[in-house]
Amino acid sequence: MPALPSHDVADLSAAPLGKARIEWAERSMPVLRAIRGRFEAEKPLEGHTVAACLHVTTETANLMRTLRAGGADVTLVASNPLSTQDDTAAALVSEYGISTYAIRGEDNETYYGHIDAALDLQPTITMDDGCDLVNRLHTQRPEQAAQVLAGTEETTTGVIRLRAMERANALRYPIIAVNDTPTKHLFDNRYGTGQSTLDGIIRATNLLLAGRTVVVAGFGYCGRGVASRAKGLGADVVVTEINPIRGLEAAMEGYRVMTMEEAAPQGDVFITVTGNTSILRQEHFEAMKDGAVICNSGHFDVEIDIASLEKIADDRREVRPNAEEFVLTDGRRIVLLASGRLVNLGAAEGHPASVMDMSFADQSLAAQWLARNHEGLEARVYDLAVDLDAEVARLKLESMGKTIDSLTAEQEHYLASYDIGT
Ligand SMILES: NC(=O)c1ccc[n+]([C@@H]2O[C@H](COP(=O)([O-])OP(=O)(O)OC[C@H]3O[C@@H](n4cnc5c(N)ncnc54)[C@H](O)[C@@H]3O)[C@@H](O)[C@H]2O)c1
Repeated sequence: MPALPSHDVADLSAAPLGKARIEWAERSMPVLRAIRGRFEAEKPLEGHTVAACLHVTTETANLMRTLRAGGADVTLVASNPLSTQDDTAAALVSEYGISTYAIRGEDNETYYGHIDAALDLQPTITMDDGCDLVNRLHTQRPEQAAQVLAGTEETTTGVIRLRAMERANALRYPIIAVNDTPTKHLFDNRYGTGQSTLDGIIRATNLLLAGRTVVVAGFGYCGRGVASRAKGLGADVVVTEINPIRGLEAAMEGYRVMTMEEAAPQGDVFITVTGNTSILRQEHFEAMKDGAVICNSGHFDVEIDIASLEKIADDRREVRPNAEEFVLTDGRRIVLLASGRLVNLGAAEGHPASVMDMSFADQSLAAQWLARNHEGLEARVYDLAVDLDAEVARLKLESMGKTIDSLTAEQEHYLASYDIGT
């Protein structure tokens, strides 16, 4: 048996189950499969070491296989302490020989220890989800930044942090904001987060959502998906926003729009998905109904002010896996799901594979593009090239057996002219 790659995972004996689940996800990832086939032949990532800090799920495992097929030396670490699927991590190590450092429920020290382990391998490309790896590299190991050629970022929160670094002249190498590409955020953030967030809530609580009031904080790409799926299940959906355009859009979509102060006494289930901090606070907990369920699907566990909930609670206990009940002094109970971390990854399995197919096709093509083109780039945040994005959408449509029209010569001429009017 070949020697195992370097790793720190919970239990290698879970590998067969992980492998079966990785193969199951692969069935719904036709675009990534096609890219993997091409990578196997062309080896566009040969000579590169990729440090990937992503949610350790079956879909991510298929991305790692694709990068390795492209010739890269790959290490995967968790981008969230609670999102790791331990069987997937085990399979990556013992079935696929991919160096992996991730244990579900790891403490902060282990989490950063794992990121350090990936950085110890001197990556030439970083692949991040939330910017923790890039931040660690820039703040704790600035001397190492010079040997990183380029990177990619998967999520909204990570891109916000990177743009802040760019503005402060603190970014040391170019990074592609994969999140900002339409085939990522229009599908992953909306349909992926929409379905999987409700999946997480239902798995954690087994609540019937029909007839209940669901409060969605934030009507961005993720919030739109969450609100529409909750409405589809028969919930009375309330949206809170700070952006007037998005608040107006939510109102036009038929949702009740109000402040969190107004929503707090009305909601049965609260979902934060803003990418911002302290959305649910003490004054809101104090106004909530007995049995209110609160959870977060934004990137970091800062959207619910858990410290203030702990402060006003007399007692707390786990009522179901991933559901912790806080009992307030007057006897009211508030149920926090997945410790306030991403509920779709903590209490369910994250996005379905067919949506990650596109996000990870974008990641693979971004890595290939960077391997070829990094030399001409500055230390800035870049968008993925439009033609790569269109290619991913085309391959996805093809895999769904759908075709679209092409412009006729007359239409092309019409769209390019300015003298044809009434
Ligand atoms: N759960 C997942 O799997 C998953 C997937 C993709 C993105 N994300 C994360 O979800 C978060 C949202 O991402 P997005 O793409 O929807 O971002 P977005 O910027 O499109 O939307 C965020 C919305 O929240 C609103 N907002 C900000 N502060 C608010 C406040 N105090 N009250 C109410 N609304 C407020 C903003 O106005 C905006 O409309 C980010 O942290 C992102 O990284 C999670």
